[in-house]
Amino acid sequence: MKNEAPLRVGIAGVGTVGASLISMFLNDQERMTQRFGRQIVVTGISARSRSKDRGVDLSEMAWFDDPVALAKSDNIDLFVELMGGEDGPALASIRAALELGKPVVTANKALIAKHGVEIAHLAEQTNTQFGFEAAVAGGIPIIKTLREGLGLAQVQRVYGIMNGTCNYILTRMTNEGINFQDCLKDAQELGYAEADPTFDIEGFDTAHKLAILTSLCFGCKIAADQMYVEGITRIDQADIKVASDLGFDIKLLGVAQRTPDGIEQRVHPTLVPKTSTIAGIDGVLNAVSLETDHVEELLLAGPGAGGDATAASVISDIFDCVRGTHVPPLGLPVAELEPYDKARMREHEGGYFIRLNARDIPGALAAIASRMGESEISLESVIQRPDLVVNDPETKSEATRTVVLITQKTLEQSVRQTIDRIAADGFIVGKPQVIRIERF
Ligand SMILES: NC(=O)c1ccc[n+]([C@@H]2O[C@H](COP(=O)([O-])OP(=O)(O)OC[C@H]3O[C@@H](n4cnc5c(N)ncnc54)[C@H](OP(=O)(O)O)[C@@H]3O)[C@@H](O)[C@H]2O)c1
Repeated sequence: MKNEAPLRVGIAGVGTVGASLISMFLNDQERMTQRFGRQIVVTGISARSRSKDRGVDLSEMAWFDDPVALAKSDNIDLFVELMGGEDGPALASIRAALELGKPVVTANKALIAKHGVEIAHLAEQTNTQFGFEAAVAGGIPIIKTLREGLGLAQVQRVYGIMNGTCNYILTRMTNEGINFQDCLKDAQELGYAEADPTFDIEGFDTAHKLAILTSLCFGCKIAADQMYVEGITRIDQADIKVASDLGFDIKLLGVAQRTPDGIEQRVHPTLVPKTSTIAGIDGVLNAVSLETDHVEELLLAGPGAGGDATAASVISDIFDCVRGTHVPPLGLPVAELEPYDKARMREHEGGYFIRLNARDIPGALAAIASRMGESEISLESVIQRPDLVVNDPETKSEATRTVVLITQKTLEQSVRQTIDRIAADGFIVGKPQVIRIERF
């Protein structure tokens, strides 16, 4: 052990992640000191309720009602933000610490997705470290891999399962034939989904994480608001069953890739071949895959959330600060980041799974197929599944049959226009289901 004074850490937020982190500091002090050559002690904490029992001994730590005051305190050398929230006290306290030249570590993806470039710039200006490994895919070291582990390799495509709640729901829908609402209820009872699950199931959480990865992968500014985002709430058992019969699973993927039209950023339910590695990522697990020119494909999988897994990533960032590792937070100096060059979703090319409630009248199927032909959309298969009753309120009691079309590679724009024409023809009822297919 070097003869250095202990590193004094202030932690704002003593919830799921903060309490796990403090517990690791209290219980593993000897191992930490041995491994990193310097003692690390938590000297100050901040949370909302002072009286709450958090299951860890906080008696040796100074209490701050105001996280900004903690960030500015002379008794801390490094500030850890684990409160959450894209603005407010989280942003104010991170700024305050960086302005004073104190390294900052956070797990706050919402904040980085919105203010990451500004904060990275502030960290650069003050020559201070800023770590956010825990913000994307919890315990998976994807940020470090992108910033430091790829050498000269250039990423062409990044995709992944980055929300455990959605993956848990889709896995149970697939394996147990349960419908979406029942799965969601179970997930809430088991603590895998929030009381208000909107953020997760509508894809926004995945979008925040993907926006951060896009910046690191393609050397561009973070553009979380310029993304196609679609959640999993419309996934029906009919989709899962037909997809499965055709050899696919359905996953909520975040995908970013370079295309001739710019960079695509999209979050949506996706048919993935059952034989692909990503299809095997089940339950609350997360995985991120990188396709690069030098390293063909690199897949990192593991726990994407949970107090201990996330705190492990926070500690990894703290150790980097202790060691003095200094890399630009977004991989490149902010001045070198390109503006985000958005590819239009209409220009996306891929295979599509299209499920329609076709009216049970003569000629309906032929008319639908003919519209596809007119748009030069090649169909890989057409499946009629009258046995699959879709719970769509718009069909009311009208006799319909479930028809699924699988297209070959085609333009999103053509698919949308053709579906609009089919709807206008009056041969279908309710909103068609369109799910993109990725073949890995
Ligand atoms: N949980 C995970 O698995 C996970 C995974 C990856 C990333 N993250 C990220 O980690 C961060 C923390 O998540 P979490 O799950 O640990 O949240 P949490 O359990 O809700 O804990 C939040 C903590 O912040 C405190 N807090 C909130 N507002 C505050 C304020 N204005 N001033 C002082 N303290 C305040 C709360 O105080 P009280 O306890 O007194 O209410 C609580 O201790 C979030 O950014 C989240 O996105 C979490």
